[in-house]
Amino acid sequence: MVRRRRALLILAGVATATLAGWALSQTRTNTINPPSITPVQLLSRPIPAMAPNAAQLQHGRDVVVQGDCVSCHTQSAGEPMAGGLGLRTPFGVIYSPNITSDTATGIGGWTPAQFYGAMHRGVDDQGKPLYPAFPYVYFTRISRQDSDAALAYLKTVPPVRYTPPANQLPFPLNIRFLVRGWNLLFFRPGTFRGDPARSAQWNRGAFLVNGLGHCGQCHTPTNFLGANDNGKPFQGGSLDNWVAPDLSGNARVGLGGWRGAEIVEYLKTGRNARAQAAGPMAEVVSYSTSLMSDADVAAIATYLKTLAASPDRRPAAPGQGAMNRGAAIYSDACASCHLEGGVGQPRYFPPLSRDAVVQQANPTGVIHLILAGVRTAPTAARPSPLTMPSFAWKLTDQEIADVSTFLRNSWGNRAAPASAGDVGRLRRRLNLTRVRLTQNSGDH
Ligand code: HEC
Ligand code: HEC
Ligand code: HEC
Repeated sequence: MVRRRRALLILAGVATATLAGWALSQTRTNTINPPSITPVQLLSRPIPAMAPNAAQLQHGRDVVVQGDCVSCHTQSAGEPMAGGLGLRTPFGVIYSPNITSDTATGIGGWTPAQFYGAMHRGVDDQGKPLYPAFPYVYFTRISRQDSDAALAYLKTVPPVRYTPPANQLPFPLNIRFLVRGWNLLFFRPGTFRGDPARSAQWNRGAFLVNGLGHCGQCHTPTNFLGANDNGKPFQGGSLDNWVAPDLSGNARVGLGGWRGAEIVEYLKTGRNARAQAAGPMAEVVSYSTSLMSDADVAAIATYLKTLAASPDRRPAAPGQGAMNRGAAIYSDACASCHLEGGVGQPRYFPPLSRDAVVQQANPTGVIHLILAGVRTAPTAARPSPLTMPSFAWKLTDQEIADVSTFLRNSWGNRAAPASAGDVGRLRRRLNLTRVRLTQNSGDH
């Protein structure tokens, strides 16, 4: 009996493992009519001062911004909060629900107690467990007041009648109750406990990072069951096709070398002199951190600057052949924007020297950028997006591996070499074309 229970627990864990580690492999698979309003327009709409509960609505909107609800509950070119974004996991797709004020298909009919049940305990309006792709493990720390305010605000979001597609999860992953086993292992409903020895600003930052902001869901590594490994806080997470870098005090791969003001600038504008937010972080910046108050962003920076440094690991040395080939590719394909010496054109084309993203132990993030190209997050402060082109059609797996290895071991950087196998696997997962060898390819 005990063995059976343990087996069930493990099954539950395995079943939900990748659902928790879903975060960075989102696919927007469904389209509805062009949206009547963009997420940023919605979140920036003035709250009528005449509304009887204007202060609560204002607070609720802040909670919705801090929790980045838009990024997951909005599909590409879809109505904000109407759901239907497919969160792709290696085992299947979970669609985010509609959380607009529609009573039939959204949460317009939910009571404050039901909504708090979702945020605090991870259960839906019927009491059924929600998959941990919804960050209730972090949201549990919010207060009942925060929760009630968020619901009041969401009830002012224009109703959209829309039911997302059913999840595509094979048996047994489609059994919701298995999540209870995962919760037993990895989840305790709780509230935020501050540290009285620290400043109010630090405590505010700790709450935002570990509560609503759920920064650790991406930036903390996961264990084999997909739960965040809190023994290695913020030491970098490798999500399916991206890497969320180390945010610890490590000066080489983390934020140890960043000043607080640089963290603030990055979170507010998507850029600073060292880095530019790409991929999933671009969405976090556009829909969450850039819309937070200056005080909140400063609090996050204050908290992050107190994180202990992760241990420094000594990476394997690269081969000289890969370094020579990579240097040539860099001059040919990259130096027009990033300039020789990797000095970049700060805030336009990021420098690549002494760069944390480039040096993460897992090369997936760098390879992803080179293969797929990238667009910098547009924000109010920096509205024009800058783009790096995709090199999937131009460079072979070996060439992308070589240029990655070169970047990762030049200009003060050091990190393990990347292999053609790493590139090939990611190319297949991202469904990107192979290089077509032309008749002149022999000249290369
Ligand atoms: C990282 C992605 C993500 C973020 C961020 C996120 N959600 Fe969700 N949310 C989901 C997913 C996925 C589900 C569905 C889980 C399931 O089907 O079990 C969900 C479910 C819900 C539900 C249950 C709805 C229902 O019909 O059962 C509510 C309510 C909800 N989210 C509200 C919010 C709010 C409010 C925020 C912001 C404070 C937020 N979510 C942020 C992914 C997210
Ligand atoms: C959905 C996953 C996700 C969440 C949630 C997330 N991040 Fe990130 N973050 C990333 C990824 C991926 C990158 C790398 C972006 C790149 O390569 O440009 C990143 C980059 C960063 C960087 C730049 C690091 C560097 O060395 O360049 C900072 C700072 C950062 N995140 C802070 C935060 C904070 C603070 C939060 C919470 C408020 C947060 N992130 C939430 C995925 C996430
Ligand atoms: C047309 C200009 C352009 C070219 C050419 C270009 N890049 Fe980029 N690159 C960018 C821009 C813009 C960004 C910032 C995107 C973002 O992260 O938001 C960037 C970001 C990067 C980053 C992430 C840096 C960080 O700290 O976040 C890496 C790594 C990178 N490029 C490598 C390369 C390599 C390797 C090549 C050549 C194969 C290359 N780039 C060619 C424009 C370019």
